[in-house]
Amino acid sequence: MMKSIRTNAAALAVAMCLSVSAQASSDKTLYEQLGGKESIRMVMDDFVVRLKADPRIGDQFAATNADRLASQLTDQVCEATGGPCKYVGADMKTAHEDMVITKAHFNALVEVLQTSMNAHSVPFDIQLEVLSMLAPMHRDVITVR
Ligand code: HEM
Repeated sequence: MMKSIRTNAAALAVAMCLSVSAQASSDKTLYEQLGGKESIRMVMDDFVVRLKADPRIGDQFAATNADRLASQLTDQVCEATGGPCKYVGADMKTAHEDMVITKAHFNALVEVLQTSMNAHSVPFDIQLEVLSMLAPMHRDVITVR
């Protein structure tokens, strides 16, 4: 009984801290919280290198120009998070429709992105916001169901 009261109190304290930090950062766009375009570009450069090296999906990026893809991803994330960029590439359905992309491929890519964000010390709550922004794109990106 005591243990569960203590556990609940601890959970409440954590939840309160999270809500305080969410309030403190709510006046900033996600773009600003990510540190702006240069910081996003650094994560994306790292991401594309890791994508190419990944044993699960690396082959799909073998012919990809790393600089170009990192630039496209940077513009896409910059714009979607409220930054001053304009993504001018193909829409997600068109960009991926000729590829074989399964749910497992999609999940692998998300894991690689998390690794890149961790490597650049992106705070966990910001990572979750980025991932929740990308998650609905699975409908357009996954081609094999
Ligand atoms: C939320 C998930 C994803 C996002 C936001 C995303 C975003 C993008 C963007 C912005 C481009 C560039 C399109 C253009 O320049 O016109 C692209 C191209 C590409 N994507 Fe994705 N993608 C996602 C998932 C995946 C997955 C799961 C795979 C395969 C495992 C994949 C494979 C590729 C490949 C091979 C290209 C072509 C790169 C090249 O130009 O050679 N993508 N993606």
